[in-house]
Amino acid sequence: MTIQTIENGHLYWDGCDTVALAEKYGTPLYVLSENAILARTDELHRDFLDKYDNVRAAYASKAFSTLAMCRLMAREGLALDVVSGGELYTAIKADFPGEHIEFNGNNKSREELTMAIEYGVGRIIVDGLQELRLIEDICQAVGKKTQILFRITPEIKADTHDFISTGQKDSKFGIPLNPEILFPQIEAAIASPFADFLGFHFHIGSQLADNSTHLAAAKVALHLALAVKERYDFEIRELNYGGGFGVKYVEGDVRQPYAYFLEPLMALTEAFCTANNLKRPTIVIEPGRSIVAEAGISLHTIGSIKELPGIRTYASIDGGMTDNIRPGLYQADYTGLIANKADQSLTEVVTISGKACESTDILVKNLATAPVEAGDIFVTFATGAYGYSMASNYNKLPIPAVVMVKDGVDQLIVRRQSYEQMLQNECLPEGM
Ligand code: LLP
Repeated sequence: MTIQTIENGHLYWDGCDTVALAEKYGTPLYVLSENAILARTDELHRDFLDKYDNVRAAYASKAFSTLAMCRLMAREGLALDVVSGGELYTAIKADFPGEHIEFNGNNKSREELTMAIEYGVGRIIVDGLQELRLIEDICQAVGKKTQILFRITPEIKADTHDFISTGQKDSKFGIPLNPEILFPQIEAAIASPFADFLGFHFHIGSQLADNSTHLAAAKVALHLALAVKERYDFEIRELNYGGGFGVKYVEGDVRQPYAYFLEPLMALTEAFCTANNLKRPTIVIEPGRSIVAEAGISLHTIGSIKELPGIRTYASIDGGMTDNIRPGLYQADYTGLIANKADQSLTEVVTISGKACESTDILVKNLATAPVEAGDIFVTFATGAYGYSMASNYNKLPIPAVVMVKDGVDQLIVRRQSYEQMLQNECLPEGM
């Protein structure tokens, strides 16, 4: 179905008039199309989950972690990847089944691991040299056993922005492949009475448009599985190939279908296992951005307009880097339009700037738009992933509300933060 339509000059998103949404809930506002999310989970079912035996997809909740999203992912048959006590707490509060939660993170604290083990998360992805000991300690104390994988650093550099590349050797993520570091960890895990060692995990980077990095990393993981069998006569049961599947932010970006990544990955895995007499392990993926990015838009109200003759026109919005840090942090490109003039010709070129006290708070540079006026509603596309989840209170701007829309019906899933809520953890020591 078409998520984005135009009626009476207004942009509609999953059947809802975005101008009316801006009026009803105020701006800035995140709007997520449930149908757009379902299109991606349906594709995952068709081309992965229902196509192969013994596979799982865990939604990487860091992309957009809310109670409603956890519920939606559970309903659609996905597992959940969490990376902090806060994301785990959100999952628990959404009653996400523990056995379908996978706990990632390169510096999990004792408190976080205890919460995870007590709740009975399905897997802990060990990503540090001291973590196994800590897990064993906690398991012993609470009288439980837990399933673990090791996140490895496959020593492969992904073709993406350096800041979101994670698989290269010089990375804070993952356990290095150096045999003198990795194998003692594996031996300890195989011997552990508290950890059930399942296999390996990698995540090589985000926003990838090419499948070659995943394939190269999968080869590394498969060779490691074989080495473990030969060395310890131990067959691993699970491999997690991470997330990272890219999306389309602007014209020129390619969003490859899931099958583009997963078909060759599965073929490679099956072929390797057959050739080496290994039982094909469970294959897990952790898509985040690809499920939710393009489903989401942001709505802002245009206020001040500054025309610099011969240079450019700045149109300022009532948010910016506080609700979308990606342009400032990764030079990420976005596009958008004036929602209340969605059918008008693009006769002006404006630079959409945020309201934070930072020169880098520019959302879109030199965008062709309909004539801009104060009060117009500006919509930015593809802000569903890493927008709300990376929002901040810089300049004491409140975190915007989030609305889920479907077939013309809107439902609030996150209330706008109030000024009182922003101050609720502040204290005034006596005498101040
Ligand atoms: N699994 C692990 C272990 C990860 O670290 C990540 C993302 C994912 C899965 C999901 O990756 P995705 O499918 O969303 O690409 N804030 C950055 C992205 C950081 C991603 C970090 N890890 C951005 O806005 O581009």
